[in-house]
Amino acid sequence: MANQLLSGKKGIIFGALDERSIAWKVALRAVEEGAEIVLSNAPVALRMGTIKELAAQCNNAPVIGADATSIPDLENLFNQATEHFGGKIDFVLHSIGMSPNVRKGFAYDGTNYDNFLKTLDISALSFHKVMQTAKKLDALNEWASVLALSYIAAQRTFPGYNDMGDAKALLESIARSFGYSYGFAKKVRVNTISQSPVPTTAGSGVAGFDGFYGYAEKMSPLGNASAADCANYCITLFSDLTRMVTMQNLFHDGGFSFTGVSEGVVERFNQ
Ligand SMILES: NC(=O)c1ccc[n+]([C@@H]2O[C@H](COP(=O)([O-])OP(=O)(O)OC[C@H]3O[C@@H](n4cnc5c(N)ncnc54)[C@H](O)[C@@H]3O)[C@@H](O)[C@H]2O)c1
Repeated sequence: MANQLLSGKKGIIFGALDERSIAWKVALRAVEEGAEIVLSNAPVALRMGTIKELAAQCNNAPVIGADATSIPDLENLFNQATEHFGGKIDFVLHSIGMSPNVRKGFAYDGTNYDNFLKTLDISALSFHKVMQTAKKLDALNEWASVLALSYIAAQRTFPGYNDMGDAKALLESIARSFGYSYGFAKKVRVNTISQSPVPTTAGSGVAGFDGFYGYAEKMSPLGNASAADCANYCITLFSDLTRMVTMQNLFHDGGFSFTGVSEGVVERFNQ
């Protein structure tokens, strides 16, 4: 259902790899709500993924490659995007995460530190780099909304999530710290959404994902929030209806984060 909540707005969406990606659903919903978008992903993902199909469904949105850890790539992206739009940007979605330690099977207490630094750079510092580049180039309009996707492993330990838990803690901290300075400087707001598990490439790469997905479903009074639900929430945060919300980590998880235990989970132990 479209309400033209983003009519006239222009945004950059990072991280749509394939149709399971959360960013994929956000891109489609943003266009449905009247936004014009530019899609971006790492050059290697552009070669492997199916982002061109998404671009075609988004009124032929430009696809601009950028490794989100590279300042020159980000400068090029913001310059090209503002040129394409003929003006500044109103919203940015950072939907980026990757841990080489998870991928290569290094346990948290047997970590490879080069991998660990890459996890932090790709999954958290890149959020800072995106905003610092945008601010330096003065690429965002006042009241623009910048969002990143997080996970509750920032607050609580989830075995298998590994160094991504540390990356998410840093990501949420960057949202607070940059939200402060960008808010005072330009009235730009910065938030993270802490999302339920979703079976995407990044999500299902985490060890034990399937069991955990079922557990979270049973623990959450509303069940797991889907990628489509997440896209709807992102749209509200890009819209003017939430213009005084900033520096927050917003749980979007069907109530999982505030449930101690559920009857459904207890029943499993009584069997
Ligand atoms: N799937 C889940 O269960 C879940 C839950 C909570 C939060 N999240 C977060 O949502 C975000 C999106 O993940 P997803 O689940 O849609 O998976 P996904 O695998 O579809 O998306 C991850 C994206 O990160 C991109 N990426 C990796 N390295 C990059 C780099 N150097 N530069 C630019 N882009 C790069 C990938 O190409 C990919 O498009 C991530 O931050 C993830 O941690 C996912």
